[in-house]
Amino acid sequence: MLGRGVVDPATPLLRADDEAVLRGRAAFETLRVYAGVPFRVDLHLRRLAESARVLELPPPDTAALAELVAEALGSLGRPDAVMRVVWTPGSGDGGSIGFVLVTPVPAGFDEMRARGIALASLQLAIGAATRSRSPWLLPGVKSTSYAVNMAAQAEARRRGADDALFLSLEDIALECPTSNVWFVEGGVLHTPALDLGILAGVTRETLLAAARDAGIHVEEGEYPRDRLAAAGEAFTSSSVREVMPVVRLDGAQVGDGRPGPVAAQMQAALRAAVAPRG
Ligand SMILES: Cc1ncc(COP(=O)(O)O)c(C=O)c1O
Repeated sequence: MLGRGVVDPATPLLRADDEAVLRGRAAFETLRVYAGVPFRVDLHLRRLAESARVLELPPPDTAALAELVAEALGSLGRPDAVMRVVWTPGSGDGGSIGFVLVTPVPAGFDEMRARGIALASLQLAIGAATRSRSPWLLPGVKSTSYAVNMAAQAEARRRGADDALFLSLEDIALECPTSNVWFVEGGVLHTPALDLGILAGVTRETLLAAARDAGIHVEEGEYPRDRLAAAGEAFTSSSVREVMPVVRLDGAQVGDGRPGPVAAQMQAALRAAVAPRG
């Protein structure tokens, strides 16, 4: 924790009147640590600062948070881990709190990747263009108000799927509660455009560059759910789950119902990008 160094996760850190607790008004980042190296921590801290700006939190001390990240990892050897960086406004009297939480990578992602996941599409009651034009809806901001996202994942599970796919009012595919979405159609890789108000995923950015390097034609745009449903293959991307092939959407098979080659290629490219240098 900023100013306190490494503390046991069981140590209480936040006051009961912190706005993060009372209103879910705080910024956070989740990133992956590979063999002790946090992946693209600079981009995550930049996005944290941007989320804090939109949420009108005091600006985070990015350099101090970067030191905290290094300090937290220094105490742990060279772990593969999930790291959260959280920036809260405190109780509103200027007492901002920054902390970093390191936890093990949840088990089972490789098995999910091997079998592919099922998505259930859930409509957000908002037009595709409205979100990005409504700053009070916090488009593209990673705030700790994730209860809606978690509720969507719970609803998806109730429908027999592994995760949710958010759609706009007009059934335009947006993103998943904690990941971006992609599909392949006629050899072209597609992903929803950032001006739909979705989160600018760090993994998304990494994959866009990797795909272009690999000579894959990529397009960002506005895609109805049905185009994704009819795609040759689909996958999601996020820091924690990396590239996850999608094999079913709303109970129907996507492509041939098996993880596709582009998803495998993108997962390999992501791992190549994270490989610690030297
Ligand atoms: C809503 C949403 N979209 C996309 C992503 C993927 O972002 P990243 O690749 O930076 O993890 C996340 C990550 O948590 C998210 O919460």
